[in-house]
Amino acid sequence: MRKPFVAGNWKMNTDSHTSVKLVERIACGSEETAGQSITVAVCPPFVYLQAVAKALSSSSIAVGSQDVYFEREGAFTGEMLKDVGCSYCLCGHSERRHVIGESDELINKKVAAAIAGGLLPILCVGELLEEREASQTNEVVTRQVKEGLAGLIAEKIQAVTIAYEPVWAIGTGLTATPEQAQEVHDFIRKLLGQMYNKKLAGEIRILYGGSVKPDNAADLMSQKDIDGSLVGGASLKADDFLAIIQAAV
Ligand code: 13P
Repeated sequence: MRKPFVAGNWKMNTDSHTSVKLVERIACGSEETAGQSITVAVCPPFVYLQAVAKALSSSSIAVGSQDVYFEREGAFTGEMLKDVGCSYCLCGHSERRHVIGESDELINKKVAAAIAGGLLPILCVGELLEEREASQTNEVVTRQVKEGLAGLIAEKIQAVTIAYEPVWAIGTGLTATPEQAQEVHDFIRKLLGQMYNKKLAGEIRILYGGSVKPDNAADLMSQKDIDGSLVGGASLKADDFLAIIQAAV
C-alpha cells in the first residue's frame, strides 16, 4: 500500500561536475523503476540543486534539499527551493540537531513552512548512542515526532515522510539490525496512530537511515514498517545507490 521510497542525502559532497554525472547515472540505471514502483529522490548540496534538477528534468527522480528555512521570503538567503526544482526537503537531520543545535521547535517551524510552501518534508528523528543505552529511544523519538509535527492537522501530515535515523548508525558503519529498526518504526507508526488516526498512520512512509548499504538494504526493507531508506555515504556511488533502490522495489 505504501510506495517504497529511497532518498540519497549527499551532505557536503560532490562538485558541479560530479553531482550531474552522478544523477545521470542514477537516472539511467533506475529508468524502469523510479516513479513507477518506487519514489526516488536525491538531496544534493544547495549549490548544486539547480544543476541536478535540470539534469533530472526528464526523469522521475525527485530533488530534495538538505534543509529549509521557515520564512517564505525576505532577508533570508537560499530558501527558494521550489523555484530551483525541489519537491522534498529534509528537516531536522541529526547533523542539524546535534552539530548546528536545531531545536524541535525550530524544526517544527520548518516542517510547517515546507508544507505551506508546497514542499514534502522528510522529518528526521533518532536517538543518540547514550540515549539508546539508557533505554530512552522511545522517549526521544516520541518527543521529536510530537514536537516536530506540533500544530499540524491530519490533512497536512499526508505530505510528511518520517526518517528514523539512529544517530549512532549514521556514517559509523554500524547499522541498526532489521529487528531494532522495525521495533522503532512500529513504535512511530503506533504513535502517529494515536496522534492522528490509524488509517493515516498506515499511509505515512517511514524510512530508515544509518549506514544503509547494498548488502544490508534488502533485510531492512523486508521489515513490515520500513518503507525505504535515507542513504548517506552509499548514495554517492551510483552502483550502490541503484542496488539499494532495487532492494526496496
Ligand atoms: P550514512 O548512510 O552515511 O550512514 O548516512 C545516513 C544519513 O545521515 C542520511 O541522512
